[in-house]
Amino acid sequence: MSRKIKRIALLTGGGDCPGLNAVIRAVTRAAILQYGYEVFGYRFGYKGLYNNDIIPLTLETVSGILHKGGTILYSSNKDNLFNYLIEENGSMVKRDVSDVAIENMRKEGIDALVVIGGDGTLTSARDFYRKGVNVIGVPKTIDNDLAATDVTFGFNTAIDVATDALDRLHTTAESHHRIMILEVMGRNAGWIALESGIAGSADVILIPEIPYDINKVVEKIRERESHGRLFSIIVVAEGAKSINGDIVISKIVEDSPDPIRLGGIANKLELELEKVIKEHEIRSTVLGHVQRGGNTCTYDRILSTRYGVRAVELIDEGKFGSMVSLKGDTISYEPLENVIGKTKDVDPDGELVSIAKKIGISFGD
Ligand code: F6P
Repeated sequence: MSRKIKRIALLTGGGDCPGLNAVIRAVTRAAILQYGYEVFGYRFGYKGLYNNDIIPLTLETVSGILHKGGTILYSSNKDNLFNYLIEENGSMVKRDVSDVAIENMRKEGIDALVVIGGDGTLTSARDFYRKGVNVIGVPKTIDNDLAATDVTFGFNTAIDVATDALDRLHTTAESHHRIMILEVMGRNAGWIALESGIAGSADVILIPEIPYDINKVVEKIRERESHGRLFSIIVVAEGAKSINGDIVISKIVEDSPDPIRLGGIANKLELELEKVIKEHEIRSTVLGHVQRGGNTCTYDRILSTRYGVRAVELIDEGKFGSMVSLKGDTISYEPLENVIGKTKDVDPDGELVSIAKKIGISFGD
């Protein structure tokens, strides 16, 4: 056991994700019970590190949070301390304020920092490590699009919610003989649409990795009609695009490291289909942040707990500058330097797409 580490701190950055609280709980409990560390949390992600907004985390503080979505430490998806908006001589300017954060940690006696976040948050974690901070990263995102780990926590909760939404759309689609479109999140990766589509028995799955031809989607609906199936269910990833189209952007969030917010493809698809399909009503539903809220599923509670405990073990082993990851059945770790910016898309020729096609699901290609 490392003798030098006495106090550790955690922060959560980027969009919230089911399982954040489970990681906070696991880190805190393992750090206190196994290693006798004192544990603290910075509130509102890196902003809290800059403002020294720090609170103690104890066995009591983390009690009763395992199942809850969100983060008791709050989060921010805008604050990059290496390019941070501050007021200087009456005007707002961007400055590298990372030294202020490092000085805050030094004053509080923080020996190691556990950063829980997606690619943007982990990029800053890597940059703090380069400046000598003892950092351990934990990968978070419902999108499951980080190359360095087989599964990110939050993904399984999101697909459970999306699958439940598809089940619910089925019963109403069937009653009215409607074409129902469900838009799910996932940014530029189609994992949520693909896995919820298979589990929720969608007829059509549209994902960014396979540009769709609207005529092929119509063909699938017509084929179902010829078998007496007078309703159809389409799940579309927010980042999907047609063979002649672009991604659909819902808004630009200024100051966010990744300012583009996708959204609106379901409505576009509805309008495209309405031009050709006159016999059925076509309705779209955007699942939105519902897939990130509420309770964390069993799988994510366990994965988050495994990640959290391993993060503390890595602190004890002095393996700083690493990120915990899942490889097969094993919790492992990777250097942050190797993982930043590396995404994992759905393979159009991979097993999941292939089995979906073999059971008759159309990808509009
Ligand atoms: O990365 C997670 C995610 O939920 C994406 O699936 C989605 O595109 C984005 O975040 C939404 O971000 P925000 O919470 O800023 O709307």
